[in-house]
Amino acid sequence: MLTRDRVLEALQGLREPTYERGYVELNMIRDVLVREDQVALTIVLAEDSEEEKTRLSKLVSAIIREIGGKEPHIRFRTLTEIERQQIERQLAANAVSAKATAHAQAAGPRPGGAHMLSPLLDPASGVKFIAVASGKGGVGKSTVTVNVAAALARAGKKVGIIDADIYGFSVPDMMGIEEVPKLEGDKILPVERFGVKVISMSFFVQDNAPVIWRGPMLGKMLRNFFAEVEWGDVEYILLDLPPGTGDIALDVHQMIPHSKELLVTTPHATAAFVAARAGAMARQTNHEILGVVENMAYYICSHCGEKDYIFGRGGGAKLAQELHTELLAQIPLGAPDNHPSEPDYSPSVYKADSETGKLYAELAARVIEKA
Ligand SMILES: Nc1ncnc2c1ncn2[C@@H]1O[C@H](COP(=O)(O)OP(=O)(O)O)[C@@H](O)[C@H]1O
Ligand SMILES: [Mg+2]
Repeated sequence: MLTRDRVLEALQGLREPTYERGYVELNMIRDVLVREDQVALTIVLAEDSEEEKTRLSKLVSAIIREIGGKEPHIRFRTLTEIERQQIERQLAANAVSAKATAHAQAAGPRPGGAHMLSPLLDPASGVKFIAVASGKGGVGKSTVTVNVAAALARAGKKVGIIDADIYGFSVPDMMGIEEVPKLEGDKILPVERFGVKVISMSFFVQDNAPVIWRGPMLGKMLRNFFAEVEWGDVEYILLDLPPGTGDIALDVHQMIPHSKELLVTTPHATAAFVAARAGAMARQTNHEILGVVENMAYYICSHCGEKDYIFGRGGGAKLAQELHTELLAQIPLGAPDNHPSEPDYSPSVYKADSETGKLYAELAARVIEKA
């Protein structure tokens, strides 16, 4: 008897010319309906090509007849832009996880020896790694990461970001990135925005689905962000670490022993207290702490221009003192004045000529001095 599964199985061999995979594998055969020996289905095409429609019509009816069906009813439509992105995302994710598995099976790569997998991680590459860490989420770690990166790029530096916050990835959205990475051969090309090359887990999950992989898999994904990504010529790579001092943060620390670190805190004393733990982790893994960034440090009253210290005061300075480092910047409260109608819109990157943008330029200059 004909069933939907039987039909899909019979169509397995149909190859899609753009992605060079099976139509079935690509989920481009949809709405398969079987009623006795009558089959109806939709084929989604990557390109609207009459030639491909003719080719498929012939092949599909031959295959359906072969398995005992009548002349099938075939509809065609073209991929929507969203579906196209989903497919490309899925293919990139498959490529990354296939590599992750291959690496896991290969003998020996240990966190400390990860530079074996990537010339980027070899201290001799000269690439400067700056991990951005915080004691807890919501203090502005990602905001600081994307803005320091943008400011470094504005200062003429070649910069990349690894969004290593693999459960809480947010960098692409914050920078207003809508594309996904392209594959070049078996390498993944980071997406470039504001002169910054970005790679993030968000490129490899569909529809903002929660990431449910367990720790070891995530560690492998991260390692692939170094090994399988074609970074090209970069001078600085910023890592947006997961908040706190969990396994992933530790893994990243161990993976890049020569990374330096920026600590982000809010001015509240308790925030600074938990940030100190992240600082202690940096210490234990021998990472040099470049300094502390106090975010949401004050609010400038739009009427009188006075600073209001609405989240308390002194947390950044206290943390810097405790860790024997410097308070490198105090960034005020206030979202960037960006509008979605602008061509280079981003929700979280402050413009170069805004007050906060200038503070980030100064912060980037300090980072260049110290890193
Ligand atoms: N200086 C700031 N002023 C106003 N909002 C901010 C500031 N810094 C961060 N935010 C906002 O606070 C929220 C948390 O910031 P985020 O960078 O995502 O923190 P984290 O990465 O530490 O979780 C985001 O919505 C972000 O836009
Ligand atoms: Mg974040």
